[in-house]
Amino acid sequence: MATKQSLHMNPGQGETSYARNSIVQKTEQDRMKNLINEAILGICGLTGTSLPKSMAIADLGCSSGPNALTLVSATVDTIYRHYVQHSQPLPEVSVFLNDLPDNDFNSVATSLATLKHIHEDLADPVVITGMIPGSFYERLFPCGSLHFVCSSNSLHWLSKAPEDLKEGRIPMYDMDEHLRLSRRAVVANAYACQFRKDFTQFLRLRAQELVPGGRMVVSLYGRCSHNPTSKSNQAWQVVTVALNDMASRGIIDKEKLDSFYVPLYAPLENEVNEIINDEGSFVINKMLMRNPFSGMDDALVSPKIIALAIRAVFESTIILHFGSSQEIMDEFAMTVERNLSSRSGWRAVLAAEYPLVLLCLSLTKVI
Ligand SMILES: C[S@@+](CC[C@H](N)C(=O)[O-])C[C@H]1O[C@@H](n2cnc3c(N)ncnc32)[C@H](O)[C@@H]1O
Repeated sequence: MATKQSLHMNPGQGETSYARNSIVQKTEQDRMKNLINEAILGICGLTGTSLPKSMAIADLGCSSGPNALTLVSATVDTIYRHYVQHSQPLPEVSVFLNDLPDNDFNSVATSLATLKHIHEDLADPVVITGMIPGSFYERLFPCGSLHFVCSSNSLHWLSKAPEDLKEGRIPMYDMDEHLRLSRRAVVANAYACQFRKDFTQFLRLRAQELVPGGRMVVSLYGRCSHNPTSKSNQAWQVVTVALNDMASRGIIDKEKLDSFYVPLYAPLENEVNEIINDEGSFVINKMLMRNPFSGMDDALVSPKIIALAIRAVFESTIILHFGSSQEIMDEFAMTVERNLSSRSGWRAVLAAEYPLVLLCLSLTKVI
């Protein structure tokens, strides 16, 4: 029996693959390395005495391509450096990569195999690797088995689009501007509620899986509470605006657009804070907020590059709803690119109209 495909980033190594179109996400992963370093030192203790003999780490929402290994490689490096510095025998490290079942795990398996051999210059490095297909909104690991969890650019994906909107036939993005504005608060509220449920569940499950004092470093798209334009703004409008444009030209069906929901929510940083405090299993060591494009030069983030990156992320979601068509996806990428390049100073326009930030959190499980 054929099963319905789930969300996945574009597989393989081709021109439209996530592997080749994820430079913005990779930049965020590189920025997370300092927090990972601090977290590992926190787990090992700063003195070097009674270091754990084995450690288990997991990246949740790893996707495929080079990014799948970035965070776990950095973590293993930090662990080994710490043990070598304290002249301790290396611990056995178990490394797990998780994503939804339709992720390109074939290519993850190939890259994961290389991780076992990166540290061959050191004495007896034992790295045990595993892939864990499944949703991070479900239990993935045995109780008290993990020391460290990381996750980059993933937790803004919800377990599902809000049922209330679907049942009430309230579109995520009304083509009619008047209706869209009048329903904006209802739509935003429904998404915020779904995020609260999902993120609470994520924290509860990870608290069960981590050892006492275990750490997490996670990054997700969010909005800044102090920026008034981000209060009411719908994240990922860049996707719906392009689809709306295509519907108005008859390329996709208008009625289908009305029932299209992107299961994503970019929370205000206050909401994230509040949910973590209400759930109660973790303390926040640090929360950083960054412009996703800061530090990237224009050659790396042109409208074309952004359009390809958006296609690599959203293609499976769009195809699941509108049906598989290379022409529709080519047109989608061209429309996103055209919408961005038609404005002078598109970087400023992007920041003003889609005021997303990347929230990066370092958390410790309360003992
Ligand atoms: C934009 S990619 C980020 C990939 C990689 N971590 C990075 O930073 O480049 C988001 C990933 O989260 C995964 N994802 C979304 N919801 C998930 C869930 N409920 N459980 C596990 N993975 C999920 C997606 O399949 C996708 O591979």
